[in-house]
Amino acid sequence: MPREQGRDVEAMRESRPVLVSVNDVSMAYNGAYAVRSASFDLERGRFLTILGPSGSGKTTLLRLIAGFGRATSGEIFINGQPVSAVPPHKRSIGMVFQRLALFPHLTAAENVAFPLKMRRHDATTIAGKVTRFLELVKLGGLGGRRIHELSGGQQQRVAIARALVFEPDLLLLDEPLAALDRKLREDMQLEFRRIQRELGVTTINVTHDQREALVMSDEVIVMDAGKIQQKARPAETYRNPRNAFVANFIGVTGFVEGTATSVSGGLVRMSHGNVELAGIMAGDAAPPRIGQSLVGAIRAEQVRIAADRRQLGGLDTIVTGEIAEAIFEGERIVYEVRVAALGGVILRVFDHDPAEHSQFEPGAHVSLGWNASDVRLYGMD
Ligand SMILES: Nc1ncnc2c1ncn2[C@@H]1O[C@H](COP(=O)(O)OP(=O)(O)OP(=O)(O)O)[C@@H](O)[C@H]1O
Ligand SMILES: [Mg+2]
Repeated sequence: MPREQGRDVEAMRESRPVLVSVNDVSMAYNGAYAVRSASFDLERGRFLTILGPSGSGKTTLLRLIAGFGRATSGEIFINGQPVSAVPPHKRSIGMVFQRLALFPHLTAAENVAFPLKMRRHDATTIAGKVTRFLELVKLGGLGGRRIHELSGGQQQRVAIARALVFEPDLLLLDEPLAALDRKLREDMQLEFRRIQRELGVTTINVTHDQREALVMSDEVIVMDAGKIQQKARPAETYRNPRNAFVANFIGVTGFVEGTATSVSGGLVRMSHGNVELAGIMAGDAAPPRIGQSLVGAIRAEQVRIAADRRQLGGLDTIVTGEIAEAIFEGERIVYEVRVAALGGVILRVFDHDPAEHSQFEPGAHVSLGWNASDVRLYGMD
């Protein structure tokens, strides 16, 4: 990239005006809401991922931004202008979907040239841009190949180049990597990110893959049942999920229920039968009432496991349990441990260093320990 252009991209990133503003948008199909009162702003140059389970309304929201279909209520602004009356092809948006919709009878270069021909650019400009964008996606030299002569990953790159070649304000991605095998998908995630950074193009990506959301994004929106549950940076989403849905959907998380017994400073104590537990209220939640039902979320990587509780000295909470499952995943073992004293709840624990630690078999009795500062508490009523 030329230095001047690089500097422009940097300058643009620093000023960060809002490019997309979604304002209280709802979408109902025959009275059933697919998206409910969604509101968020996206600053120029940012990479946003909309993450959520199947049917949570991700595609519906993306299609409204693209201009396919009209919201039941609310308004979307692009560059400060309301767009509900603007058709998709006038919105300066590039798109890549799971089904790539490349033209199979055309070459890679002809596919990339297509949006420019539609926009009546002259032949010399088209040739130059096609070369530049094929190089950007590392397909320089393969422009003459037909689509079926390219691998899945290469076809993906053609689709990216075609979506970006007319230099749209906004790039929309709806699970374009979902059909690829894991290794290629992970390579392409980094590749998308590289291209996005190089061009500085504002991007909204839809996925139900939490890893993809955390790896690729400046910001993550988590959706469930048509509603935005949280919008935050990836690390914040992971470390401080705003509600139990987000805590459960991202990461490997165990949940323990209890009743609040005391609040002092930020620390909340609660009890479950004879077990005393403690944690910190999540996000901006108010302190609980004494006697309020709470659920504590704890990440598998925060729980320590040992054959004997004496090996867990210094941790705030220690319980005993029985190994229900030991799942070998290569770089780690995931233990599922049933804790009778917590109502038989299953807590999941990572043991990252299986060579160093004893490997526990199902049925083995173990101790689990964790710190109160690693437990996020959510009110249940
Ligand atoms: N054209 C339509 N007509 C009626 N209902 C629809 C239509 N499109 C989507 N829905 C419904 O709206 C809800 C949200 O669908 P949407 O496609 O937005 O989900 P999604 O989060 O993209 O899911 P997935 O991860 O499976 O792609 C679902 O309940 C779906 O059945
Ligand atoms: Mg979808």
